[in-house]
Amino acid sequence: MANQDTQFFGHPRGLATLFFTEMWERFSYYGMRALLILFMVAPVASGGLGFDKTKAGAIYGLYTGTVYLACLPGGWIADRILGAKKAVLMGGVLIALGHVCLALPLLNTFYFGLLLIVCGTGLLKPNVSALVGSLYDKGDIRRDSGFSIFYMGINTGATIAPIICGYVGQRVNWHYGFGLAALGMMAGVIQFWFGSKQFSEIKPSETVVTESTATLRKWLVAALGLVCIAGALHIFGMIEITAISISNTFGVLLVITVVASFGGLLFFGDWTREERQRLGVILVLFLAACIFWSSFEQAGSTLNLFAQEHTATQLLGIDFPASALQFVQPGALILLAPLLAGIWLKLGNSGPTTPMKFVMGLAFVGLSFFLMAAAAKTLAPGVKASVIWLIGCYVLHAVGELCLSPVGLSAMTKLAPRNLVGLMMGLWFMATSVGNFISGRLAGAYDGMPIAQLFTIVGMVGIGSAIFMLFLTRPIVKMMGGVR
Ligand code: PHE
Repeated sequence: MANQDTQFFGHPRGLATLFFTEMWERFSYYGMRALLILFMVAPVASGGLGFDKTKAGAIYGLYTGTVYLACLPGGWIADRILGAKKAVLMGGVLIALGHVCLALPLLNTFYFGLLLIVCGTGLLKPNVSALVGSLYDKGDIRRDSGFSIFYMGINTGATIAPIICGYVGQRVNWHYGFGLAALGMMAGVIQFWFGSKQFSEIKPSETVVTESTATLRKWLVAALGLVCIAGALHIFGMIEITAISISNTFGVLLVITVVASFGGLLFFGDWTREERQRLGVILVLFLAACIFWSSFEQAGSTLNLFAQEHTATQLLGIDFPASALQFVQPGALILLAPLLAGIWLKLGNSGPTTPMKFVMGLAFVGLSFFLMAAAAKTLAPGVKASVIWLIGCYVLHAVGELCLSPVGLSAMTKLAPRNLVGLMMGLWFMATSVGNFISGRLAGAYDGMPIAQLFTIVGMVGIGSAIFMLFLTRPIVKMMGGVR
């Protein structure tokens, strides 16, 4: 039962619990992500893994891509088996254990740790958001602002983590940095354990649980079978399993999943004309979101490498590690969010429509890469780029995220045909997954061409798709059938 409780800035007390749970989860995620690619490419002599960038980028893309794809089964498991509260708790424990594995200086625990974080985030991330939604009654006007406050929790965690984990990881010891991420998640779990008593569980019925457990077991057995077959083929020398080949396979599966989902929806669904048109709009928004996230999420991959190798990371006389710079984007978002919200409010109905906000998001992120291409052009032997370039780039990312991300999520829910809201949310996470995967693979191209050229291409894709989308805004608005 949702409530009229106003204990947390006019919102239900449960929002405070969920705010801090997600803050700590994002603290652990972004603290570790700030270090991940740098740790993989750092020479063994300095405590790193000594991977080349192709391999590191493939693993980074595989990991960050699967983290968000895991939100699909994670949402399903909570809806049909565990209930959201238990799913969040279990997810948090798995994530903390994953970071503990990374805190150990062993290669095998490194891979196992990544796997645990993927499973844990899949269980936690979609369901903690679902719980936020469940705090409010259907017509409660506080819902949207509740989600905005929650988004601040996400970005508070994302802002402090790179500074703390990045500093300790790069300046003291990589594994201590990962250990701090583990501690952060543990704080989140303890806090959720005590705080979650304030709201009730959304529980599935006994029959649904029994049926779904059987289905889940079948899928797990099938997955385990496939892993065993692939392992056997590898042992007999018939295929070669490497980090890159697993990452490639994931990429192919991701494309097949996207094509099958939209193909199935558009061609086999029994829709009215209006519903079909809206699905068409969802497809366009989905593709635009994939392009946006594949540029934006390079914060942890190519831009992180650029910070490490080519940027003079001193500001106001302070010399800080490259990974710490990751705090700029979420920090700028926290500062800019009220400003943008104020502008949208002031403009009201004459403000930009949903597709127009997508155009703006793509344009900002495209521009940011032209800025970085210019930064790369200032490089000369022995001369590093000023940190101002990356700061400018991340501020543009923050504005882009504010234009596209919240409006994208709400468009998915508003445009979804009957009973398919959950699936549309899943597709939205899938766009993040695609974007993250591409951002990782682009890090593999980092050494293969001049950096200015790579950043120019990324910038051109962003601006090009913004222009393309601009031409589509009118027909899209028409096809949205009254939804703004
Ligand atoms: N900064 C956002 C977050 O960490 C990025 C994101 C958006 C992730 C949408 C998943 C889905 O939550």
